[in-house]
Order: sequence, then C-alpha cells, then structure tokens
Amino acid sequence: MSTSVPPTRRVAVLVSGSGTNLVALLEAIDADPAFGGEVVVVASDQPTAGGLEHARRRGLPVVALALSDHPDRAAWEAALTTAVAAHEPDVVVLAGFMRVLSARFLRGWPDRVLNTHPSLLPAFRGAHAVRDALAHGVRVTGATVHLVDEQVDHGPIIAQRCVPVEPDDTEASLHTRIKAVEHDLLPACVKLLCQDRLHIVGRTVHIEPEELP
Ligand code: GRF
Repeated sequence: MSTSVPPTRRVAVLVSGSGTNLVALLEAIDADPAFGGEVVVVASDQPTAGGLEHARRRGLPVVALALSDHPDRAAWEAALTTAVAAHEPDVVVLAGFMRVLSARFLRGWPDRVLNTHPSLLPAFRGAHAVRDALAHGVRVTGATVHLVDEQVDHGPIIAQRCVPVEPDDTEASLHTRIKAVEHDLLPACVKLLCQDRLHIVGRTVHIEPEELP
C-alpha cells in the first residue's frame, strides 16, 4: 500500500517591521510536522527591518527592496513581484507589511495572499488600527487574518479573535496583547491555507473540515 505525503506549500513572507509574526510562523512550522508549509523567502520594503534579520539568522533567502530606490511605485512593485516569484511561492503572507499591493502583484497568487491586521475588521482599517481603536473608545478590539484583495484591509475574513481594551491601555500595551493573539492566529490560518482547507464563496471563507482557529 502506498502512503501519500501531502505537498509542502512554499510560503513567501513579506514584512516591514520587527517580524515577531514571522518568527511565530517559523516556530509554528518547526513545531508541527503536519503543517504543510515551509518559508522559502522573506521580503521587505525596509532594508533594515528586524524581520529580515530574523530570516538571515535562520539562513533564509531575503529580498530587500526600498521604494526610494525605484523610479516610482509601479517599478518597485514590479521588482518585488519578480523577486518574490523567483522563489516560486504557492502562498504569500503579509506579516506586518505596511505597503498596499496592487492587482498586478495579487494576480500572481489568486486567493493565496493572506494578511494579519490588528483590529476586528471592518473596523479600523489602515496603518493606525490600534491607535484608532483606542481613540474611538471601543471596549473590545482584536486581530483579523484575511485574504488580500485590491482594497486595503478588505478581503474575505479567515479568522478573528477579540482582545479587550483595558482602562489604562496605551497604544503600545494594547498592540502587545493583540500581537500575542496574532502570533497564534496567523500561523493557524497559514496552515489552513497550506492544507487547502479554505474555500471562498463570495466574502465567506469556509474551513473544511470546520475548525475555527
Ligand atoms: C502586526 O500587529 C500586524 O498586524 C501589523 O503590524 C504588526 C507587525 O508586527 N500590520 P511584527 O512586525 O510582526 O512584530
């Protein structure tokens, strides 16, 4: 009798910042032989991003492409697309990547680009989600992992988790607790995508077999 080994999906991770979500993903993959994915490249628009350092320390291929080194945004995105595609990823994970990607990038990986965002979308889209949630006075915010479409922080939602706002929270303290949630939620969602367990119907993502991360 032959045993079938599930395919290992090639995962590209894009970061702009410290890369704690990247580290959480790498650790989750290391800890789970059934994960079904491996990180094959880490790319950034910030050549000094901490996330790139984590990748280098692990001996992973890195791509650093600053927008300012390109004549315009389209040229930068074209270079990024080519550099990422050269590693032949099946899945692209935006783990704190602070640039908007256009359809020209996204069409390379239809329904296979995933993002983590530090709010309960559709509330508080954009780059200052934690600050905006605090300023709005919400009692509960959270983390959302979603598929990326052409609009900012908009695509079909895979999973969300709540984080209560404490009376003495600062942007930093609240973001630290949200990130702790993201560190669990993002790898769980990447695993579902790697295992082909996400089925998208309109804006709804069905997880099969059903098991909410
Ligand atoms: C995360 O909270 C992510 O949702 C947001 O930026 C943060 C990135 O953190 N877009 P890190 O670089 O993974 O530590």
